[in-house]
Amino acid sequence: MSFCFNFDVPASSVKSDGVHGHGLQDEKKDKAAASPQDNTEPAEPAKEAKEHLLPSDPQFLLADAVSETVTIGTLPPLHFLNETVFEKTAPEREDDERILSRTAEQRSDLIPGVYEGGLKVWECTYDLLEIIEKDGETFGGKAVLDLGCGAGLLGILALKRGARHIHFQDYNSTVIEQLTVPTVLLNCQEDDDIESEDDTEGRGKGKAQEKDGCEKTLKEKQGVKDGSPPPKKIALGQSQHLSKCRFFSGDWSTFLDLILKTGPQPKYDIIFTSETIYNTAYYPVLHETLHKLLAPGGLVYLATKSHYFGVGGGLHLFESFVEQTGTFSVDHLWDGDEGLQRHVVVLRFKKPEDTGVGPIRDSCQ
Ligand SMILES: C[S@@+](CC[C@H](N)C(=O)[O-])C[C@H]1O[C@@H](n2cnc3c(N)ncnc32)[C@H](O)[C@@H]1O
Repeated sequence: MSFCFNFDVPASSVKSDGVHGHGLQDEKKDKAAASPQDNTEPAEPAKEAKEHLLPSDPQFLLADAVSETVTIGTLPPLHFLNETVFEKTAPEREDDERILSRTAEQRSDLIPGVYEGGLKVWECTYDLLEIIEKDGETFGGKAVLDLGCGAGLLGILALKRGARHIHFQDYNSTVIEQLTVPTVLLNCQEDDDIESEDDTEGRGKGKAQEKDGCEKTLKEKQGVKDGSPPPKKIALGQSQHLSKCRFFSGDWSTFLDLILKTGPQPKYDIIFTSETIYNTAYYPVLHETLHKLLAPGGLVYLATKSHYFGVGGGLHLFESFVEQTGTFSVDHLWDGDEGLQRHVVVLRFKKPEDTGVGPIRDSCQ
């Protein structure tokens, strides 16, 4: 899909009074500050959050999968569905939210409050994967949230690297059902196959064996592409990896309400969020979500462009917002300087006792 930002927002729906009283419009010294015209209000009421439960045998969700693989350094290969398939097969797909038809009509990557861009993998996701590879972040036993996940590659990496559980959230239920879940399945299937083969062959885990796994993966992936199933599969319904995952769609404010209700009190050790700060109107609820859901000592990895033209948000405005609220410190892990600038930053609580909700209990289930 070669769509671009295309915010054709009626003048009456454009906010002109700053963003929810946080004074972002006062950032006049900021070259990249959003003008009122940039600030984009959702065109429709926010989508109510819901959890998506998987069918007991979800294998059929991969029936027509056409996948691609990204391999970064020593990270395990990550598979995801080819985005052009959505465009080509839109008429045959279930599209209750009408996002496939509307993005095609409007040739836009984003329609605020309708479609928030999750049907493709955005480039800052790759930046963050590279930083994780360089920094050697470990995930063993951690509770992870991929917030605004799209395909969910960041969460999938955590899953492959031994996270305790991973929650995937995207605004659109169509994205969760047609991209995130199949992409997780694609990756789980491979890992479960590799593990079951290792069990059968009595091999332990290690680098050489990982290499073996990669070679096999390519063959298997080809099998998916050709429509001929790979020779051996364990039922995805029994996948150990899959049992660690939960999937949610909906607006951040209702997602927060929903997740806070699903006690015990959820807290995530790591929250990934890539290309989610393009719209300043969402900053208050995004910040609140991070504040309430991050565990003390936890980290928010945020990957973003410096500025989102036509939408108005960007890193400097978000950093100003974070600074005003005083909850998190922001450290830059990587600042790209070619073309449109991109960044990876990490947020952590200034004071661990400053977490959003009551006494600290266990991380999420
Ligand atoms: C541009 S996409 C990025 C997708 C993915 N993280 C990537 O890097 O490929 C932005 C994502 O942010 C999420 N998002 C944006 N605004 C949101 C909101 N108000 N509530 C919930 N999710 C939102 C959507 O799920 C959407 O998929």
